[in-house]
Amino acid sequence: MTARFRLWLFLLMASALGGCDDAPRFTAAEPGEARSGGATTVYKKDRAAFSLPSANLAPTRRLDFSVGNSFFRNPWVIAPSTTTARDGLGPLFNTNACQNCHIKDGRGHPPEPGADNAVSMLVRLSIPDEPAYAEQIKRLGLTPEPVYGKQLQDMAIPGVTPEGKVRVEYDSMTVHFRDGTPAHLRRPTLQITQLGYGAMHPQTRASARIAPPMIGLGLLEAIPEAAILANADPEDSKGTGITGTPNWVWDDAQQKTVLGRFGWKASQPSLNQQNAHALAGDMGLTSSLKSADDCTPTQTACLAAPNGEGPDGEPEVSDNILRLITFYTRNLGVPARRDVSDAQVLAGKNLFFKAGCQQCHTPQFTTAANAAEPELANQVIRPYTDLLLHDMGEGLADNLTEFQANGQQWRTPPLWGIGLTQAVGGHTQFLHDGRARSIMEAVLWHGGEALPAQRQVLAFDAQQRAALLAFLNSL
Ligand code: HEC
Ligand code: HEC
Repeated sequence: MTARFRLWLFLLMASALGGCDDAPRFTAAEPGEARSGGATTVYKKDRAAFSLPSANLAPTRRLDFSVGNSFFRNPWVIAPSTTTARDGLGPLFNTNACQNCHIKDGRGHPPEPGADNAVSMLVRLSIPDEPAYAEQIKRLGLTPEPVYGKQLQDMAIPGVTPEGKVRVEYDSMTVHFRDGTPAHLRRPTLQITQLGYGAMHPQTRASARIAPPMIGLGLLEAIPEAAILANADPEDSKGTGITGTPNWVWDDAQQKTVLGRFGWKASQPSLNQQNAHALAGDMGLTSSLKSADDCTPTQTACLAAPNGEGPDGEPEVSDNILRLITFYTRNLGVPARRDVSDAQVLAGKNLFFKAGCQQCHTPQFTTAANAAEPELANQVIRPYTDLLLHDMGEGLADNLTEFQANGQQWRTPPLWGIGLTQAVGGHTQFLHDGRARSIMEAVLWHGGEALPAQRQVLAFDAQQRAALLAFLNSL
């Protein structure tokens, strides 16, 4: 064999094995890499790291941000009340303020095992699609549980019965890295107790979800649709094993089907609609976009309870307040990365690409020129999400369908800011239901399309695992 032939054979085998090539792609930080949110990037890494306005927000516009913040943070009260601007809570609700779930503008968490105080986690409900619910299927993407609706509300105003309580119990499981090191995972089982309105439909599917962090959402809203769809490959025609499915969802304002971006299954198209649904579903507050509380026809006390509407039937949340809340949710700045040039962080970044994480956690986008707010336009951002749905396997399945998202599919969550989770929220519980107690546990739960990536991580040695975590913690 000539040397040249041997080299050729080696290269052929290397490419056939899908990149045995261990040469690092990154030997230095990329220009601007630390600024995850472009010019909106903020510089804080303590408990307030997720609570600052976009750095490029003009002082005059900061006032709207703080008024929006007050409606996000302060509790809403039961109607009738003298504080008419913020009354109308309930009749059924989960908690009285957005911030109780999106803690310090960060993520929520599941209740302690066995406890039934699931404040910052909510439970979506649905039954298999039935033709009688065609209108709901079109608008909500699912058939709600006939008596309890599409979400369990565990609180109610006096005189109305709460729907039930939620508990999570865990079974432990152990997986082993190739070097024999064990990793312990916990598999949740959801229990709904103290049902206030009788038994649920026998085929009810329940999906527990913790509140996601609030940073950079306006930037995600400003990613051009074409840029998101460019990564989609629902039929896996490229044969990579990674699909990337857009969720096509109902837009209440435009009265048509559009691309979904928000929520763990990308079932909400815009921040304004997501917020209107949160006001109605989580707190029982109506707005012009969502004109009814979450009472179903059998919940008569809920339907009969006084509401906080104005004398001429104005909704409980005025258009101006909804606008301010949406302005706020668009402008929570993304914190800058730490240690981008650190050798271990760079090694971890190379391992992130080697394992194929970037196939779903897309590192970079540029926002559109016509973003909803000028500060959010034309920004090079590094969210580490493709905003698409992926089959994550049976282990993570909730078996609940929302529009195009089936029971095994989840939207890739952004990873920016993930390293500050502990500093902001005082915990590190990840994935849609908070089952993972650390970033590594979250990675080890990856199955389905992400199984090859998970296998690569299982094969990493202790030094490589530490480098991968150093990279993720620098985000
Ligand atoms: C009971 C807890 C709870 C309350 C209260 C709550 N949220 Fe949420 N929020 C969630 C959960 C859980 C999700 C994910 C929903 C899903 O996947 O279906 C979410 C998602 C969101 C998102 C989308 C984030 C993303 O990354 O896709 C926004 C925006 C949001 N909420 C805003 C609000 C606003 C504004 C309020 C107050 C009006 C509010 N939320 C109140 C739990 C809550
Ligand atoms: C096939 C697409 C895909 C690949 C490949 C992938 N992920 Fe994910 N990742 C997801 C999805 C979808 C979720 C959300 C799953 C859930 O919540 O049930 C997720 C969740 C996460 C989370 C938790 C985020 C949070 O906010 O709770 C982390 C951390 C993470 N991935 C890191 C990685 C790393 C590191 C790799 C490579 C080893 C990787 N992912 C590969 C799709 C992917």
